[in-house]
Amino acid sequence: MSDNTVATRQRKRLRRMAAQGVTRSTVIVHTDCRPALDALRPHFAHAQNAPILNTLVALVEKEITKPVNVAQVKQLSLFRYPGGKTWLVPEIRKWLNTLPYRPQRFVEPFAGGGIVGLTAAAENLADQVVLSEIDDAVASVWHTLLNGSAADVDWLCQQILDFDMTLPNVSAILTASADTVTKRAFQTIIRNRVQRGGILAPGASIMKEGENGKGLKSRWYPETLVRRIMAIQHFRHRLIFRQEDAFAIIQEWTDDPHIAWFIDPPYTAGGKKAGKRLYTHPSVNHPRLFESIMLAQGECLMTYDDAPEVHALVQKHGMRVERVPMKNTHHNILYELLITKAPRRAE
Ligand SMILES: C[S@@+](CC[C@H](N)C(=O)[O-])C[C@H]1O[C@@H](n2cnc3c(N)ncnc32)[C@H](O)[C@@H]1O
Repeated sequence: MSDNTVATRQRKRLRRMAAQGVTRSTVIVHTDCRPALDALRPHFAHAQNAPILNTLVALVEKEITKPVNVAQVKQLSLFRYPGGKTWLVPEIRKWLNTLPYRPQRFVEPFAGGGIVGLTAAAENLADQVVLSEIDDAVASVWHTLLNGSAADVDWLCQQILDFDMTLPNVSAILTASADTVTKRAFQTIIRNRVQRGGILAPGASIMKEGENGKGLKSRWYPETLVRRIMAIQHFRHRLIFRQEDAFAIIQEWTDDPHIAWFIDPPYTAGGKKAGKRLYTHPSVNHPRLFESIMLAQGECLMTYDDAPEVHALVQKHGMRVERVPMKNTHHNILYELLITKAPRRAE
């Protein structure tokens, strides 16, 4: 059959279909949305499907534009994080509201579990939130959630939901070679749930007894974790994750006056060694950190343990400090320091 005959037949077919109200249409589609388009494709050619497809569109529109009810998602982070700052979230909100500007960027260079940055993004407290963390394992989770494709995020959710939390299964996951970022992310989530105190640093042990005799399952809430992942996807467009050294991140935006910095470094100054077994990267040059943040244009909130060496750095740089009481896991009252730059004098 000649090319001409094929083309003529095709034209006739299209004319017949047009007479029945079926016409050709071009759509621009993102690769991640391709499966949805392919699933719907056969249903578009029949007029009787129009009402149901229109209802579907209305539902999807409602879902896409629905604001997240953050109050329903109290804890947004996937991590149980040693030194995590969930308790500080109300203070951060207060501090951001007292700033003389709305931050264009909220930057958390020592992100860890990132609860503060996640809250800032969820509550739209800044136009953009940047999280940075150098730990490979922790970063694999952030990369998957914030830089991964929809398929990566779906895969992670499915692994979490399908996982049967038994000791042999945990051992198999933790000893497997995780050769992709998403596999590493799943391995990290499991490790974070089963190791004492959520500690990911080498040497941390598995809590076989767990809480209330519930063993390994005592910290395993798969549906909750997946709900948090889905919640984060709602405001992911405001979040950026970078796996970089905190000093490089501070340097990058040192001249930007529209930033708010939240600085929560691992603390090992003053001879306190706790941080050394909590984190894979426990060492930070604290005097250099104070200098860098004082040189940066934006306002900052730093948190530290209440130690004489920290007070000395605060005094050296003429910063403001507030002692905030908090309860540790043994219900003892400890003090944490909230450190900010002193207000600038009017020129
Ligand atoms: C105290 S924790 C942060 C906890 C976090 N605020 C939270 O609420 O989960 C400090 C984090 O800084 C990371 N870290 C250490 N040195 C770093 C560096 N030079 N650059 C970026 N991150 C670093 C550690 O891996 C650790 O996760």
